[in-house]
Amino acid sequence: MSSTSYTQDELKALVGQAALQYVVPGEIVGVGTGSTVNKFIDALATMRDQIPGAVSSSEASTVRLKALGIPVLDANEVSSLSVYIDGADEIDGQGHMVKGGGAALTREKIVAALSKRFVCIADESKKVAVLGKFPLPVEVIPMAAQQIIRQFAALGGQGSIRQKDGQPLVTDNGQYIVDVLGLQITDPLAFESQVNQWPGVVTVGVFAHQKAAVCLLGTPRGVETLTY
Ligand code: 5RP
Repeated sequence: MSSTSYTQDELKALVGQAALQYVVPGEIVGVGTGSTVNKFIDALATMRDQIPGAVSSSEASTVRLKALGIPVLDANEVSSLSVYIDGADEIDGQGHMVKGGGAALTREKIVAALSKRFVCIADESKKVAVLGKFPLPVEVIPMAAQQIIRQFAALGGQGSIRQKDGQPLVTDNGQYIVDVLGLQITDPLAFESQVNQWPGVVTVGVFAHQKAAVCLLGTPRGVETLTY
């Protein structure tokens, strides 16, 4: 197969456009967060007359959807979605992901859990054999942050509170993000379940229970479709 030299931005646009084929006309679509999803939202504007609207996973995506004339519904107004389209920071060979680079992981996991099918859109740089190279985002209740950092240290991880403008970043839900370096997540399902039990953890950025069903991967050969 021939290859073309795409920029990373072009790869994001390619997979964002390719994701339109998974949007079901007449149905509400779940929309993630991030620079790749922004390309998808731009493409979705061409279908805005065919869908009732979207359930959004962040304030940032909500603003972009509304600016393009796509109605945004509250997650409590829907009982199920046919598809959720979102990016990832890492994806392994089974469709398990690390997410939360954009600090939207909790709402992303909520919308993913509402959805029958998670379609991940990513460029090839996100594909890994084992999750853990990207610092693992964990949304935490602020008073538990240091205790949670100590618990990760016991697993060999180095955690730190994500900063913005010299202050702890505050999520859309009013909480902090702890980013953890140095983990090798060889059993994502067990790891996600374990960390979810720790008091003060709101959401761990491992998406194994809500893994991808499909990944549209942007590569120099074009868009590759991986199914899990
Ligand atoms: C936001 C996320 C994003 O999906 C993830 O960070 C990938 O973002 P991008 O498409 O900008 O690389 O999980 O919380």
